[in-house]
This record gives sequence, C-alpha cells and structure tokens, in this order.
Amino acid sequence: MTGYVDLHCHYVPGVDDGVRNVEESLGVLTGLAGLGWTTVVATPHIRTAMFENRAAPLREHFAAFEAAVAGRPGLPTLGLSAEHYCDDVFWDLFLRGEVLPYPGGHAALVEFHYEAWPRHIERRFFDMQMRGVRPVIAHPERYAGLAKSTDPLRPMLDGGALALLDLMSLVGRYGDRARRVAERMLDEGYYDAACTDTHRPEDVGHVARALLRLDALVGVDEARALLASNPAEILAGTYDP
Ligand SMILES: [Fe+2]
Repeated sequence: MTGYVDLHCHYVPGVDDGVRNVEESLGVLTGLAGLGWTTVVATPHIRTAMFENRAAPLREHFAAFEAAVAGRPGLPTLGLSAEHYCDDVFWDLFLRGEVLPYPGGHAALVEFHYEAWPRHIERRFFDMQMRGVRPVIAHPERYAGLAKSTDPLRPMLDGGALALLDLMSLVGRYGDRARRVAERMLDEGYYDAACTDTHRPEDVGHVARALLRLDALVGVDEARALLASNPAEILAGTYDP
C-alpha cells in the first residue's frame, strides 16, 4: 500500500521529545516510507513550560534539516506544522498568527491535558474555524475524559473539529485504556484520520503492527481512507466528515 499521509510525527531533530539527530530522523522517515507513507508532516510540540518552541525558530530548524537530507533517496514528501497545546499562550499565539497550521493553512493539530477535560474549548475551536483553521485533535483516545464514553468529544466534533487516531494506541503503546478507547471510537466511526506520532526509529515496528491491527478492526477500505485519502483532503482543505 502507498499514498499514506502522516499528520503527526516528531522528526525535526533536537526540538522536543522526538528524534535527537539527523540519523534517527532518517530512520523514522525511511521506515515510514517503507510502510507506505508518501507524505509525513513534522509536528514538533509547542507547549508552555515543557517545549518552549515558537514558529519562527522551528521553521529555521526544519529548513536546516531539509538541507541536511536534500537528495537522499527513499524519503517521503516533508512538511512542517506543530502539535499545539491548547492553553492561553496558544490562543495568544494563534491570534497573532504565530502558530504553525498544516501546510496549506486549512487545519492545525491541537492537544490538551490528558486528565483535565478542557472547558470552553468549543468556543475557541469555533473562533479558529472562523479564521479558516480547522482544529485536528491529537490522540483523543488518551484523554481520561473519554475513558467511559465518547460523548464529551461530540460537541467539538459537531462544531467541526476532527479526531486523529494515534496508530500506536492500537497495539497498547499508551496503555490498556487508550487501546480500549481507540477500538471503541473506531467502532463508533469517530476518527477522521490516523497518524503515527513517531518519536524514534524504534516506533516504526509498532506502527507496522498497528497497521495490521487497523485493517483487522475496520477493513482495508476504511483503513485506507483514514491513512491516505482523508488526511490528504484535510491538507487540501476539501475534507468533509
Ligand atoms: Fe505528538
């Protein structure tokens, strides 16, 4: 299979908890290319008090990385975005145009606290969309607020946000709860796309196992939509849930 589009991957060296050097980055990218990914968007963390990244320096790091790997065979198409932690700092940056939406500018990856369900976030998501940027929610299956039911997520999705499955959840990489919730949400049809969230070359083996699991859970056609056509349409701004 080929033509997969990864909307969540930590392969810019040395800027967050992802790969530490160009060698590891090449391991991630060639590994994912071997599994079928033809586009992989880098999404380094922008998270206050943890990863104090900002758009302009990240663009410089990414450009330096692109220059370092230029001409290497077997790499997917690369792009830069970010995994934005939703807090007041994010909102301030967003209003100033200092965040990193996906290439094309139609959507942006967001995450929030795993244990504390965010309040009033629908309003912010609405305001994002009024400015042409659709929120893509990273790994919803990891949030404690969805452990028993997907209902708390529904107002966000009804308001136009999208849900992005972290493939490695399917093979227990984030524990039993995340695996169970991911399977339930797949069954309920809540996911719009699936990503790798790769941090290290060693993750690629888990991603490979997760692809098999995804096929078994939803079938090849739905898996292909989650891995290829839906994320491509999200980038193009043409996706209609
Ligand atoms: Fe991530």
